Amino acid sequence: MCGIIGILGHHEAAPLLVEALKRLEYRGYDSAGIATVNKGRLDRRRAVGKLVNLSDLLVHEPLAGKAGIGHTRWATHGVATVRNAHPHKAGPVAVVHNGIIENFRELRAEIAEAGYAFESETDTETVALLAQLYMARGMTPVEAARETLGRLHGAFALCFLFDGEEDLMIAARKGSPLAIGHGDGEMFVGSDAIALAPLTDRITYLEEGDWAVVTRKGAQIYDAAGRLANRSETRIQIDATRVEKAGYKHFMAKEIAEQPVVLADALKHYLTADGKALHLPGVDFTGVDRLTLVACGTASYACHVAKYWFERLAGLPVDVDVASEFRYREPPLSPASWAVFVSQSGETADTLAALRYAQDKVARTLAVVNVPTSSIARESDLALPILAGVEIGVASTKAFTCQLLVLALLALKAGRDRGVLDDAALAGHLETLGTLPGLMNHTLGLSADITRVAEKLAEAQDILFLGRGPMFPLALEGALKLKEISYIHAEGYASGELKHGPIALIDQHVPVIVLAPRDGLFDKTVSNMQEVMARHGKVLLLSDAAGVAEAGQGCWKTLTLPEVAEPFAPILYAIPAQLLAYHTAIAKGTDVDQPRNLAKSVTVE
Ligand code: F6R
Repeated sequence: MCGIIGILGHHEAAPLLVEALKRLEYRGYDSAGIATVNKGRLDRRRAVGKLVNLSDLLVHEPLAGKAGIGHTRWATHGVATVRNAHPHKAGPVAVVHNGIIENFRELRAEIAEAGYAFESETDTETVALLAQLYMARGMTPVEAARETLGRLHGAFALCFLFDGEEDLMIAARKGSPLAIGHGDGEMFVGSDAIALAPLTDRITYLEEGDWAVVTRKGAQIYDAAGRLANRSETRIQIDATRVEKAGYKHFMAKEIAEQPVVLADALKHYLTADGKALHLPGVDFTGVDRLTLVACGTASYACHVAKYWFERLAGLPVDVDVASEFRYREPPLSPASWAVFVSQSGETADTLAALRYAQDKVARTLAVVNVPTSSIARESDLALPILAGVEIGVASTKAFTCQLLVLALLALKAGRDRGVLDDAALAGHLETLGTLPGLMNHTLGLSADITRVAEKLAEAQDILFLGRGPMFPLALEGALKLKEISYIHAEGYASGELKHGPIALIDQHVPVIVLAPRDGLFDKTVSNMQEVMARHGKVLLLSDAAGVAEAGQGCWKTLTLPEVAEPFAPILYAIPAQLLAYHTAIAKGTDVDQPRNLAKSVTVE
């Protein structure tokens, strides 16, 4: 959420800043801006909307200088206007910011009392004005930044640039990630390694509460207590930060298509060489009495699916919570339980706060994350990477199926450790999981059929998804995916719940997408589907050949998927759900990779 870049370089900064912002645009695209210092003078350019608008502006009004900061915004305080766009500038100070300054109202009052005027509605401008105020009282830029940082409450990543200072940036991290990049006589600051990758592969991740004085010679990093801190430099694998569409029209399409490969890679990572046993060092569920699974959005639906698996395969009680509720409800947690935090980015503010809440209350915290260097990974007792590779499309796809896979493997490990599964049963389940990459490939071949159905779905105002058992959370995920990128109102329901209210919505205009592999619950789901059809509902049935043969008659449309052994069908059925959302969005002409109002990596509450 909001992307930050800072450069103290040897070359003109503006094109490099824009290039880095391009790589950060998935974090926010309400507005973008850059500031540079040239011949001692701080200046900036800002534009509303996509980054291309800023690039256009820079053609007509270029910005020179080899020191600069840049920002892509996901609006929190103040609508998307040029005045609210970053960098915010107050006198000799320019600031870019990710996060929320919670005490900005109180600070604003103080600043106004000191006689300074505000030009924006943002919390960020307060930071620039405060630093300006301190400099006006005689402080140096470094002193003013330090003093300002000490006054801020909330979660933030900040980067300051100053008038007259062509070799100075101040970077600070509290609650939102920030990294420092080391070049050859050049230094950089960025929200993540993805932004910094074209500039350098040598990265230092700031720790919570750190702030740094950055010059071309290097960075002096101070910890939250103000002591000089020694933070290690790591080399990032540039491959792991590649952000290319590789011939696909959208990142989302590429990421959907990548699923067989990344799932196979993840399976290889977590299974022994012969594929017959689990390789999860350090994971032993013996003595664990309960699991709490916490996440947000799509990741939380992966947790809901996993609940069915842990209960069925391991007899282990599971609570699932969305992080934003969990963290403030302060739930009692058993000291013999484990808490698992699932997050693609590993930076989601609520999930991170939930992890911190659970840390001293449970026997163990586990992170199931895509970004192994993320805060959630680093702060958990054990981090299990999902190995999905960089996910750029705002709508999560391959991260979801890889999260499901890692959770499925954990459930199997729990089943074996607790004696619920014997070796033969475990081997059978592993074999099923091993078939998934191939079945996914086959399912991707349904894309043309799905495109035709999607053209019709695009005409709908409301769409319902139904599922039972582990397919119920998949119905929730299918609905989320559809609404976030096509803007069609969609809801997921447990099939059996329909008659308790939502069935009132059914008429001939409401497509109902039924996710029903021919499993033990198939007949029950089909009964609910019949109830929909009896009320002229338009049913799209997704099932395997046997299911479609048995129940397809009378449906508006059917899609036939390969058969997959219980209980792992949700991993496979995620693909048509994603493709339905994708092709419906294409038919509607919406912005698939950067849907309105959204951004990836939600680092604010
Ligand atoms: C939806 C989507 C979001 C994320 C959620 C959590 O397609 O991507 O719902 O799943 O914001 O993000 P992470 O997994 O990064 O914690």
